[in-house]
Amino acid sequence: MAQKIIIDTDPGQDDAVAILLALASPELEVLGITTVAGNVPLDLTQLNARKIIELAGRPDIPVFAGCDRPLSRDLVTAEHVHGKTGLDGIALPDPSVPLQDRHAVDFIIDTLRAQDPGTVTLVPIGPLTNIAQAFRRAPDIVARVQQIVLMGGAYFEVGNITPAAEFNIYVDPEAAAEVFDADVPLVVLPLDVTHTALTSREWVDAMAALPGRCGPAVAGWTDFFERFDKEKYGSLGAPLHDPCTIAWLLRPDMFTGRHINVQIETEGRWTTGMTVADWWRVTDRAPNALFLRQVDHDALFDLLAERIARLP
Ligand code: RIB
Ligand code: CA
Repeated sequence: MAQKIIIDTDPGQDDAVAILLALASPELEVLGITTVAGNVPLDLTQLNARKIIELAGRPDIPVFAGCDRPLSRDLVTAEHVHGKTGLDGIALPDPSVPLQDRHAVDFIIDTLRAQDPGTVTLVPIGPLTNIAQAFRRAPDIVARVQQIVLMGGAYFEVGNITPAAEFNIYVDPEAAAEVFDADVPLVVLPLDVTHTALTSREWVDAMAALPGRCGPAVAGWTDFFERFDKEKYGSLGAPLHDPCTIAWLLRPDMFTGRHINVQIETEGRWTTGMTVADWWRVTDRAPNALFLRQVDHDALFDLLAERIARLP
């Protein structure tokens, strides 16, 4: 039986690779893609999500637009990383697949109520606004969530949008705090892991050489996306943040981490959005997350290459 998932996303080139990986993996059943404002505004993230499913030849996957701003803060975007469209690197045609009428938050609520309890995994790879809004509007669905596997946060790796905070958490720290406090099984893929998930020139060239259209698209996105991290960190490739969530679902054995307490700072003058991870268990706060720290790099990129090659 395939694992049922909802991907909540703000595409974003790395979001796009995560979505392609999920669609290429028969172990997963993507019930829908819900979009949120983050890397770029909502009108672009929903458009990009529809471009991606069309590229993958999967117009059957419903795409929903969700929250266009954080719960209580102004939206912060990341065009400086992802480009004006949010999906710079290759030009994709405007999609013919329509946006669903239902709001993303309603889709999340309706799906969790319709599916058997404990059978649907939420995979947020952008700010957590949609998830927090769904839990606020329908508290009954919280206990029905199988688990949340999210990309966000940082601890030993520190922040990428401020010295203390990672982007997805920083954009909506109140939403993140409500999700981390919701008592749902939580798996966190922080920058500590994803900053080691760097593409190599050989890997990108192999993507570009794939016969279909998805491989070259991944090459174009990662080539564009990597320039920011190369300049900022001197890193030798693009960090594939969001695909780490899907890879964890497929091969959790590739990752290592600890089940610890993680709190979200929402009031720090300098640290708002920080994931305060009790890695050394110095407090008596109960563990609420599997906080991952390492990944088998070669196994990850072999998996990605093998799956992307299956796509058109
Ligand atoms: O900090 C990395 C995260 O922020 C990724 O999800 C990337 O897509 C951006 O949303
Ligand atoms: Ca993202």
